[in-house]
Amino acid sequence: MTAFHTPPISPMAIAFDAERLTLSPEGPTLTRRMSDLEGLFRDSDAWAAESAGENPVVYTVTSSPVPEIDRELPQSITTIMPGDTSGELWMTKGHQHPNHQGEIYLALQGTGGLLMFDGERTEWIDMQPGTIGYIPPGWAHRSVNTGDEPYSFLAVYPGGAGHDYGWVLEHGMGSRAYRTAGGVELRPYSE
Ligand SMILES: [Fe+2]
Repeated sequence: MTAFHTPPISPMAIAFDAERLTLSPEGPTLTRRMSDLEGLFRDSDAWAAESAGENPVVYTVTSSPVPEIDRELPQSITTIMPGDTSGELWMTKGHQHPNHQGEIYLALQGTGGLLMFDGERTEWIDMQPGTIGYIPPGWAHRSVNTGDEPYSFLAVYPGGAGHDYGWVLEHGMGSRAYRTAGGVELRPYSE
């Protein structure tokens, strides 16, 4: 063992099925239902009604076996279902990395958007299969499904970056993405 080796992961191949969007071997899958997204949609009454009713799955995150520990480089595939709540497009919770480190998202299927907020500035990247969205250190990030089919992307991120979801509840994301007749419209977060 060299000084550079950190247990417990050995070099490995992970089979990625680009059609079925599976990883093999794969790690745990996280499922976020509407009820898991409290405080995030502008229309809290509509959110509450959907949560108490059908409580649909909004997105899933399937991880590779690489652990989320410092110096490792985990990957995951997120799939966001198509839909909106009072016009606000379905999205991930969004998070900031407590340890400010970068991340990349590679769009795989469907169409979406990558919303980023550094506390002052908002950035939006249109995501379609083949687009790599780069998230610099210090930018909170949220993904949005802008289409009519599931939107999936691959994330690759430093294992020690961490996930701070409370940051978004406290600071917002700068903008919200709404479905309009012409496509997608970004509106101020608090209006
Ligand atoms: Fe992240």
